[in-house]
Amino acid sequence: MEFLLSDQHQMMQKMFYDFAQKEIAPNAAKYDETAEFPLENIKKLGAQGFMGIPIPEEYGGAGADFLTYILCIEEVSRACASTGVILAVHTSVGTFPILNFGTEEQKQKYVPKLASGEYVGAFALTEPGAGSDASALRTSAKRDGDDYVLNGTKIFISNGGHAQVYTVFATVDKGQGTKGITAFLVEKDTPGFKVGAIEKKMGLNADVTTELVFEDCRIPASQRLGKEGEGFKIAMSLLDGGRIGIGAQGLGIAQAAYDEALKYAQFREQFGQPIFNNQAIAFKLADMATEIEAARLLVYQAAFRKENGLPNGKQASMAKFYATDTAMKVTTEAVQVLGGYGYSREYPVERLMRDAKITQIYEGTNQIQRLVISKAIEKGL
Ligand code: CAA
Repeated sequence: MEFLLSDQHQMMQKMFYDFAQKEIAPNAAKYDETAEFPLENIKKLGAQGFMGIPIPEEYGGAGADFLTYILCIEEVSRACASTGVILAVHTSVGTFPILNFGTEEQKQKYVPKLASGEYVGAFALTEPGAGSDASALRTSAKRDGDDYVLNGTKIFISNGGHAQVYTVFATVDKGQGTKGITAFLVEKDTPGFKVGAIEKKMGLNADVTTELVFEDCRIPASQRLGKEGEGFKIAMSLLDGGRIGIGAQGLGIAQAAYDEALKYAQFREQFGQPIFNNQAIAFKLADMATEIEAARLLVYQAAFRKENGLPNGKQASMAKFYATDTAMKVTTEAVQVLGGYGYSREYPVERLMRDAKITQIYEGTNQIQRLVISKAIEKGL
């Protein structure tokens, strides 16, 4: 049993850290204030080859393993959580659908552009009446000759308006429940497809999140991903991997908050000494450090299992809920350690706390993760 990252992974981790601290972190507060999509960051990630880390070289990616990708999400999220999720959504549920389920033609058409960062990907599952119950989606896809005609509305779509290609889930027959759900690749400028309202959120502001509207949106059958009725399983299997990425995002956010809290506690003097000298503060730091370490082990273990073809759905859900609950707890405690300064925008911890909250909600709420885990336990997995 080996608990250390390999030399190669440690080298990549340092490279991601150096890059993210130098190129991404300095603008995180600005992007939070302006709620502007961080296009400059995405260009930088693309230039480094980070938009296609786990994508095979034959499709224009870096051909690295899943853990390397997870290390990148962690370090980018530590610098800017919005940029972290843009990268995670783009890769896990924006590019992998095509790589894993696309025809050779679809892969050639989209994957190299996604892997290079020329295109950003997006994943459109959620609807006003279908959040945790993804199977309740109502967007319809009606076959008409060689085309499908899509009608419906998606909400809370990360990268909405900035992605060039969207994996969209619609039903060809509502009566068939999950067995009617089918996946389609929809390009940004397809007639009948428009980007609707931009969500105003508590945090993660630069992760632009929008509504998507399909009004008699006609797409050729060649844009269907997989077979009719395979969409739900495609979505679920993608989310297994995606959730490890969100766990890594939570880890990055928690680490950033811990770093700030530790620095502050050792520097800030009250009653004639650094506040770290008080156990009330030092024990908070001890709890944070321990929970971050536990979260890291869960996230890396899930990534390792995925990379090595071992069952990983249960571990992905464990990693996601534990790491993101840790992010919420650690960021909240970091605000407390910094006191009034923690609540002030002068320091980053209030942003980290606002950013952490959504990680407990998206890619399946942390209650849904417990449902997935309990179902796996029931099956003896
Ligand atoms: N892989 C492959 N197939 C799977 C699967 C998986 N992980 N999980 C379930 N399935 C299959 C089942 O085997 C079953 O197939 P059969 O009918 O052939 O047996 C079928 O899918 C239906 O499974 P369930 O009966 O378990 O489905 P359910 O309706 O009870 O739903 C759920 C299960 C886990 C609650 C699911 O609805 C879910 O994950 N909900 C949360 C939705 C979610 O995560 N949304 C995230 C949106 S994307 C996002 O957030 C991105 C972002 O912005 C950051």
